[in-house]
Formats: sequence, C-alpha cells, structure tokens
Amino acid sequence: GLKKKEVHVLCLGLDNSGKTTIINKLKPSNAQTQDIVPTIGFSIEKFKTSSLSFTVFDMSGQGRYRNLWEHYYKEGQAIIFVIDSSDKLRMVVAKEELDTLLNHPDIKHRRLPILFFANKMDLRDAISSVKVSQLLSLENIKDKPWHICASDALKGEGLQEGVDWLQDQIT
Ligand code: GTP
Ligand code: MG
Repeated sequence: GLKKKEVHVLCLGLDNSGKTTIINKLKPSNAQTQDIVPTIGFSIEKFKTSSLSFTVFDMSGQGRYRNLWEHYYKEGQAIIFVIDSSDKLRMVVAKEELDTLLNHPDIKHRRLPILFFANKMDLRDAISSVKVSQLLSLENIKDKPWHICASDALKGEGLQEGVDWLQDQIT
C-alpha cells in the first residue's frame, strides 16, 4: 500500500504524568507492554494512525533528565504535553516547564501543533481540563495550534480524540 507520512513527535511533561502509559495505549494491542516503569532518559516508540506513521520521543519527566528535552526540539514536528490533572501541587512546575519550552529558540517561532492531555481524569481529585488550561494559561499560546483533551490513559479514554486532532493538524 501507500507509505504513510512519517511524523516525529515529542512527548513531554513532568514525571508520573502518564506519558509512557499514553504512548503505550496508542500502540496496537499486541505491541503494548504490561508493566510501565519510569522512563530513564528517553525511549523511541512508534504507532500509526489512518494516514500517519508517528515516531515518538517519549522523554523522561524527572527533573534530572529534563535538560535532555531541548536536544530533540529541532527534530520534533509536533508536541504531546501531558499533565497529571490530580497533581495540584506541581501544576506550577508543569507551567514553568511549558513556558521554558515555548520560549526556547528551537520552538518559539515554529507553528508546531501542541496536544495537551489533562491526564488521570479518573482520579477523584483531578481538576477539569478547562481548569488545567487556565492554570497553564494556554489561552496565551497564539502562534501555535493547540488542543487539550481530558484523558484516562489506564482505560484509554480521550486518547483517540487527541490523536485525531493531531492528525488533522499535520495532514
Ligand atoms: P516518567 O517516565 O517518569 O516521566 O513518567 P511518565 O509520564 O511516563 O508516567 P507513566 O506513564 O510511567 O505513569 C506514571 C504512573 O501513573 C503509573 O503508575 C501509571 O499507571 C499511572 N497513570 C498513568 N495514566 C494514568 C491515568 O490516566 N489514571 C491513573 N489513575 N493513573 C495513571
Ligand atoms: Mg515515561
């Protein structure tokens, strides 16, 4: 058949937000792993949608590895940024990391689509995706298309809506 267009995506966000769990759920079921452990450094993963072949740089969100992120910015054609909606204490840290990302010279003037997952919506103390977008001041992002989806990566809820949006932005 026709070769799908290849897209490089950076998956970013704080440690424990659910990045690896989300990427794992987007893979075909026979390629999914059962036990997900904190990412060391980064991991390269692949999944396909109807028209695209995604290569994902699933970065570690741990503080000591966050300085690795910027080395991949030039390669990225889209960003998936994951937030733990139940982690109110670190929402300000997530915002700091997002602001640093958006101001980076390799990101700042590019019209990269950014998909936000307000993840862990299943948890009792999770805040809504509207509230997450307010706390992260997403309305200030004016030079890039962005979209936020509430997700439950354990059940896989909300993921398809997000990836459909991303695919629409790229194709
Ligand atoms: P680092 O690799 O350390 O940056 O973390 P990460 O963002 O890749 O998080 P990971 O996918 O390893 O998930 C961290 C923990 O959150 C795991 O125990 C997951 O099972 C759990 N988790 C991920 N998504 C959800 C979710 O939507 N709901 C709930 N309740 N737990 C989740
Ligand atoms: Mg991970």
